Amino acid sequence: MMHTGTPVTVLGLGLMGGALAGAFLRAGHPTTVWNRTTAKADDLVARGAALAGSPAAAIAAAPLVVVCVSDYDAVADVLDGPLDGRVVVNLTSGTPSRARALAEVVARRGGGYLDGGIMAVPEAVGTAEAVLAYSGPRALYDAHASALGSLGTGRHLGDDPGLAATHEMATVVLMWGMLNGFLNGAAILGTAGVSASAYLPIAQTAIGTVAGWLPGYARQADDGVYPAHDGTIDTHLAAMTHVVEESGSLGVNAELPRLARALAERAAAAGHGASGYAALVEQFRRP
Ligand SMILES: NC(=O)c1ccc[n+]([C@@H]2O[C@H](COP(=O)([O-])OP(=O)(O)OC[C@H]3O[C@@H](n4cnc5c(N)ncnc54)[C@H](OP(=O)(O)O)[C@@H]3O)[C@@H](O)[C@H]2O)c1
Repeated sequence: MMHTGTPVTVLGLGLMGGALAGAFLRAGHPTTVWNRTTAKADDLVARGAALAGSPAAAIAAAPLVVVCVSDYDAVADVLDGPLDGRVVVNLTSGTPSRARALAEVVARRGGGYLDGGIMAVPEAVGTAEAVLAYSGPRALYDAHASALGSLGTGRHLGDDPGLAATHEMATVVLMWGMLNGFLNGAAILGTAGVSASAYLPIAQTAIGTVAGWLPGYARQADDGVYPAHDGTIDTHLAAMTHVVEESGSLGVNAELPRLARALAERAAAAGHGASGYAALVEQFRRP
């Protein structure tokens, strides 16, 4: 393979780091790799990657250094040294505050910092389906957007390095909400002898329908006014109470509908009984 793109370094070759390095290689970037457990580099080296003997040697090998390890403590272990002229792209999951703190550490060591969140599984990396969200100085992102494009569809969210991790938090909360709702629904239907697979067509249609409501809900959440175009919170409350009670009778877990009811009760107590469902955002905005 001809390696003609920007030289890159990948630190961390777990499931995700290995996929990132593989995508850089496929796109023709001279790729240097390092991993604590060296054997995980074997396949990449066979495909043309250069194996560095230490994180410092790997960092010295390329201007663009991608880090993807388990957590921020591991990031601190591998980025222990000078970073002059390097742009560090940290794709390790973490919190916004740790991303901002790491950006300052990298700057003190002479490097530039972009934080990133990978909204994809390793198999999708290197395809347009993989979305990678970045935050940090726009100029740094623009300078490396082409190389980072080898990993998937890149989106720059803003100059604050904490923004990618904040979006990641918001997105996993959304994902858990959908998955918990589906699994809770499957448990309810299981009491009637209906399999989760049989529930699938209705569940997928419902998720699509609710997704179509989001632009209106987003507008209401931003404006702070919640006209009830569909059901009011009081109407939802009645349905939530039925589901909580019936879950008890059926012998299935009622925590999720109880949480929904508790939030709706607080919204109603705050004067939003006749408001639309988007008024619940005020409950989520409280600690
Ligand atoms: N997998 C996914 O689908 C996915 C999706 C989005 C985001 N992510 C994020 O990507 C990151 C990596 O995930 P992964 O799935 O690749 O995990 P993984 O397969 O468990 O790999 C973890 C990596 O971190 C390294 N590591 C851990 N502690 C270290 C330390 N103290 N010093 C040096 N290296 C250390 C491991 O090295 P050894 O090989 O030596 O153990 C390995 O390379 C995580 O932050 C994860 O949240 C993953």
